[in-house]
Parts: sequence; structure tokens; C-alpha cells
Amino acid sequence: MARHPADIDAWLDETREERLADYLEFLRIPSISTLPAHAADCRRAAGFLADHLRQAGLEHVEVAETEGHPVVYADWLHAEGRPTVLVYGHYDVQPADPLDLWEKPPFDPRVEGGRVYARGAADDKSNVHAHLQAARGWLADGGTLPINLKYVFEGEEESGSEHLDHWLSANRERLAADLAVVSDTGFFDGNVPAITVGLRGIMYAQLNVSGPTVDLHSGGYGGTVRNPATVLCEIVAGLHDAEGRVNVPGFYDDVRPLSVRDREEFARLPFDEDAYRASTGVDALWGESGFTTLERRGGRPTLEVNGIWGGFQGEGAKTIIPAHAHAKVSCRLVRDQDPERIFALVRDRILQLAPAGVRVEVTYIHGGLPSLTPIDHPATQAAARSLREVFGGDPVYIREGGSVPVTASFESILGLPVVLLGFTPPDDRAHAPNESMRLDNYEQGTRTIVRYWQALAETPLE
Ligand code: BES
Ligand code: ZN
Repeated sequence: MARHPADIDAWLDETREERLADYLEFLRIPSISTLPAHAADCRRAAGFLADHLRQAGLEHVEVAETEGHPVVYADWLHAEGRPTVLVYGHYDVQPADPLDLWEKPPFDPRVEGGRVYARGAADDKSNVHAHLQAARGWLADGGTLPINLKYVFEGEEESGSEHLDHWLSANRERLAADLAVVSDTGFFDGNVPAITVGLRGIMYAQLNVSGPTVDLHSGGYGGTVRNPATVLCEIVAGLHDAEGRVNVPGFYDDVRPLSVRDREEFARLPFDEDAYRASTGVDALWGESGFTTLERRGGRPTLEVNGIWGGFQGEGAKTIIPAHAHAKVSCRLVRDQDPERIFALVRDRILQLAPAGVRVEVTYIHGGLPSLTPIDHPATQAAARSLREVFGGDPVYIREGGSVPVTASFESILGLPVVLLGFTPPDDRAHAPNESMRLDNYEQGTRTIVRYWQALAETPLE
């Protein structure tokens, strides 16, 4: 029996409590992909999804092995003559540290003030769970879906999607589709419904500086040998100039200047810069001179230190020259910048800054390409209509600073157009302590997905 999104809304209303309980169960799994100690949890999260996809009525459900954490695949292919959409999300999460800053344990979700708090509550288990429920709603009580769907839920997004491209290439035929919907983004400043049309790429590296074979007495050796921690700081300081530009020769070579149109689009967004600043707790924003905050975030490449350590970290005092010092450094990249080329440039700059008396090593951790997706594609416009129906008001189109490297892979490996559709609020504190998801976004997001499948059934994608 053909159904209408309104029928599914009724089902969603009836199952609200049960769906929330299930979402919380998903959040209890500490599927931290970057920490080897959590490999079994990642597998457990994959199993959770596979079970739920099966129960929802999806077919060919598989926990597919890779060299790393598994990919979960499922499909439903009975809408003859209708488009096939490949849905992507990730079940892995970022590490939860520093744990002492969480008001409740990160994997013991709690609901408060219309939000659910937990690591992964927003990024990306909210979007993934909303997809499960939307499909379940369509298929409940012997229902059918208005389009063909293929699900790909990965477990390594937060650690660089190292094995996904290989899996995509190896499964090219099985993954044939008309469109990919990547659900790992969210809304704009003030919780304005948004469709992301730009994501930055990334290059992640580690910098190791080593000096003496072991820590030395800083009285006996202070002033006579190079201190690796000091050198590390000098190197890091040498990676930006006084204008906030990345001070790496060649870094901007492939970057196209922002067009007048690009700049107008950034300027047109309803952005409260002071609220953005205040939400971070800093007293002044900073960045590359000559660009606005939104341009710096969505349209320009950057270099950041993600962590830095070395030497004595305990309470009290210890007088040593540390044997080594380290930093995790990553660059966000824009169109036409290549992660491996950027790695080579950053490495060369670091080695150029390294003085005699220490050994400096730079290692590549992961990289991913940026992407720009078209606003005027019929599938993007259908997503906009679905958002408008549920949230009221037109979505804004935004270029975000974060990265979802598989977006470029869907285009290059599978040849698919991509729509980025996700529902997390901008103040979700993703990757930080006390991450949260707004429950109304989760509920309305689910309803938007329900409508989107109907809209795509009625939209010629050519
Ligand atoms: N959901 C984010 C990407 C994102 C962030 C989109 C902000 C829009 C706005 C995603 O899960 C993520 O965090 N990706 C990592 C990728 C990296 C580890 C390769 C990121 O951006 O740091
Ligand atoms: Zn993330």
C-alpha cells in the first residue's frame, strides 16, 4: 500500500519514547575509532546498526570487513523505475577526553532541557539513527519505500576513513546509485536549517623532536644542549606569520582566490559574530587577515596544533631537559589543495626550521580531499523543499570548515553527485566535552528524511 509522509509522521509520534530509548542505547557504545582499545566497541556499534537495519526491513545487511573497523551495508531495492540513493553516515566517535570536564560520563547519555548529552550524540549518531528510523517508518506494517536505498555506515570517519576508499572501489558495482546523501553535517548559527555545500579537506601529521637519549638534569646540561621542547615551540611559532597566514612556502599555490560571488554568499548569511565569539569563551577572534570569520572557516585553508606534549607534566616541579617533544598538527584544505602535497610542503618547512642539535621527524597520519557540492542540483533543491516543509523557512547554503573526506570519494570513485544533509545544531560541542544533540532537531530531522525520500521519488535527477 502506497503511503504518504503524513502516515509515517503518525507512526513517529507513536514510537517517540521507544525510538529515544533506542538512540540512547546506541550512544552507550563507546565506538572511538582512533583508540585501538575500543576496536571491540566499534564492532559492537556496527552490529547494533546491522541488527537494526535488519529489523527495519532492509535487505542484504552486512557487516563488511575492512583492514580496520567494519563498514555496515544494507539496501532496499524494490522501487522500480525510481532513483537509487546511497546514504552515508558514521557510527564511530571522537575520543571523550578530557573526561573530568564532562558533567556526566560521556557514554551514559542523559536527557536534559530538550537535549541529549553524550559523545556522538550529535556527530554522527543522531543523523545515523534518524536515517534508521525514517526507513523503519516507511517499512513499518508492510509498507514500502518510495525510492531505492543503499546504506553505507562507516566506522573510521573520525580517524581519517583510512580503509573506506579501498572498500568503495572494491564494491563499485554494488554501490551503483543516482545520488549519495552524506549525513554528517548540521545547521547554521542560531540553529538555522542549512544545507552544507562546501567542506574542507584535511592533512594530519605528527611532529617529533628528539634531543638527548634520555631526559637530562637541567642544571648539569641547561644552556649546553638544545632543548627539544623549546625547538618544538620555535618550529610551531614559525608556521604562521604575523598576518595569521600559514608560513609554509607553496601552501597557497593551488588556492583559488574567493570570487566576488563567494564572498557575497558568505556575507549574506545571518551570522552573529559576537555570539560565535562568546560561545567559545575567547575575548577576541583571530585569523588570516583580509578575510571574514565565515570566509576563514569555510573558504580558506588553515594550520592548527591539535595537541602538544613533552617533558614533565606532573604536579610540582622537576628540573630536566626533556629527551623529546611532540605535536599533532593538521591543516584544513580548500579546493585544489592536495593533502599529500601539503604534507610535503609542511614537512619541508618544519625541517627547514629545525636547528642542529635535535632530530626532527614529521609523519603523515591521514588526509582527505575538500568538496564543493552544487546548490542548483535538483536533489539539493528537493532536500531544501523537505527541510522547508518540516522546519518552516528556507534553508541557508553554507560552506563549513569541517571535513568529511568520503564526500570527494563518492564523486571520484563512484561518480555520484552528493547532497550533504544533516541536522545537528551549531552549538552541539562536537569533539568537545558535553557534546549534545537537540531532540527537536533529531525528531524533525527524521521527518525531513521521510519527506526527502518522497521528494526524490518525484524529482527527475537528470
Ligand atoms: N561531522 C564532522 C564534519 C563536520 C564538522 C561537518 C563541522 C560540518 C561542520 C565529521 O564527523 C568530522 O568531525 N570529521 C573530521 C574528519 C577528519 C578526522 C578526517 C573532522 O572534520 O575533523
Ligand atoms: Zn566529527
